[in-house]
Amino acid sequence: MLFLVLSGLLLLVAEPLAGMPSDELEVDPQPDAALMTRHAHYADLGEIKAKLEERRDGGHLHVAFSAYVNSHPNTPSIAGHVVPFGGLITNVGYGYNTRTNAFTAPYGGIYFFFVALDISKDFGGVKLLRNGQYFAAAHNDYRENTHISVGVTMTLNARDVINVTYETTGGHVDSGISSVFTGFKLA
Ligand SMILES: *[C@@H]1O[C@H](CO)[C@@H](O)[C@H](O)[C@H]1NC(C)=O
Repeated sequence: MLFLVLSGLLLLVAEPLAGMPSDELEVDPQPDAALMTRHAHYADLGEIKAKLEERRDGGHLHVAFSAYVNSHPNTPSIAGHVVPFGGLITNVGYGYNTRTNAFTAPYGGIYFFFVALDISKDFGGVKLLRNGQYFAAAHNDYRENTHISVGVTMTLNARDVINVTYETTGGHVDSGISSVFTGFKLA
């Protein structure tokens, strides 16, 4: 940062002087433009590297998200539709997308996912899908529950997509942080 400020100042000073006869100058009036560009470029890369380092732990980039249902007062269950976890609590690594309500693994690795839903008694259940394939579910057996949940650890490839869809039509999911979809990369 300091380097950027200093090189910016140097440019400000050097430019008006560049047109003056060189014998009136005590400093080199023509800083090497290519060198300046290269230094600015390295400074940018340094910033990007620092940002990546912030998210890195033990050689692994951090990926972690938590989203909740924020469609008030609740969201009706329609079989095959995605559960709209539209409110973000955290989204380190930008894997979760509130527009598609899906998580896309930015990197391959071992991931943990957890879904907990505050439901009406007449609610059926949800499926967790990986690239459209059913891999886990949470069911309201005998229509007895007010909450359902499921947690799964699995190995994903980069760009695998995870979403949560309603398994049946009828009933609803309550809005708020009692209805969450959470995931993070373990390793
Ligand atoms: C869930 O994700 C799969 C895989 O990307 C996609 O094909 C499907 O349309 C999604 N489902 C919904 C309801 O958005």
